Amino acid sequence: MDERFKTLPIPPVELRRWVGPFDDATEFAESGRNTVRALTEMACLRSNDAVLDVGCGTGRVALPLMNLLDDEGRYDGFDLSVPAIDWCRGAITSRRPNFRFHCIEARNEAYESSSGPTAACVSFPFASESFDLALITSVFTHMLDDAIDNYLAETARVLRRNGRMFVSLFLLDAASEAAALTGSARLDFRHTFGPLRSLNATCPEEGVAIEHSDFAERLRRYGFVPHGPVHFGNWRDRSTQGTNVYLQDLLVARKT
Ligand SMILES: C[S@@+](CC[C@H](N)C(=O)[O-])C[C@H]1O[C@@H](n2cnc3c(N)ncnc32)[C@H](O)[C@@H]1O
Repeated sequence: MDERFKTLPIPPVELRRWVGPFDDATEFAESGRNTVRALTEMACLRSNDAVLDVGCGTGRVALPLMNLLDDEGRYDGFDLSVPAIDWCRGAITSRRPNFRFHCIEARNEAYESSSGPTAACVSFPFASESFDLALITSVFTHMLDDAIDNYLAETARVLRRNGRMFVSLFLLDAASEAAALTGSARLDFRHTFGPLRSLNATCPEEGVAIEHSDFAERLRRYGFVPHGPVHFGNWRDRSTQGTNVYLQDLLVARKT
C-alpha cells in the first residue's frame, strides 16, 4: 500500500451531502474505506487495475483508492456535477496524475440536472475495452429503466474481457417484500414506475429499486455473469444494524 497519502483531503460538507447523508466528515471517509474493502474482497481489486468509477461524485471511493492503486494502475471517474469534478481534480489529480475526472452532460431530476441528453443516450467518454474494473455505487439507485440498460451496455463496452463490474443498488425480492410488509425495512419503495419502484411518487430518480430477477436478466443480456454471491445490505432490515455496514445490496458481475 502507498503510504504517501495517510492524511487524505476531505470535500466540504455541501459536496459530501451531494453523495449521501455525510454531514460528518469521519463517516464520509469511513464509508469510502468500507467500499474499497468490499471492492478488494468481492471484486479482487489489484493495485495495477485500470478502474472506472461511474457517477464518481465527490471522490468518496477515489480518495481511499489513492493509497491502493499504484502508478501502474489508473483511475477514471465521471459525473454530471461540475463542482464535484472540479473538487476532485484539485484535491486528487493534483496529487495523483493517474487519477482523472471527467464531467459529462446528462439529465437527472434528482440531481437538478436538466440539460444534456437523457442518461439513456449517454456514451461514456472512453475507448472500448479499456478498463479492468468498473464501479457503479449508488448510481442505478437514481436512474430509470432505459438509463440503467444504457449504463450496463456502456459498462460492458468499456470493460475488457473478464473485467469486473461492482455495483451497489437496491434489489427487491421476497425477503425485502416481507420486510416492507412488517415495517422492519429501513426504506419503503412503494411507488411503481414501469419495472422499477421508487421512494418518491413525483421524482422517481430520488431513490430507485429494481427486482433482483429483472437485474439478473439485464446482466445476462449485456454479457455479464455473476462473480460470487450478492451481499445484501441493511436497508432491508433494521435489526441488522451494526452487523452489516453496507446500506445497499452489493454484487459483482464479470464480463464474458
Ligand atoms: C448517491 S451519489 C453516489 C456517488 C458515488 N458513486 C459514491 O458512491 O459516492 C450519485 C451520483 O451519481 C451522479 N449521477 C447521477 N446521474 C448520473 C448520470 N447519468 N451519469 C453520471 N453520473 C450521474 C450524481 O451526480 C451523484 O454524484
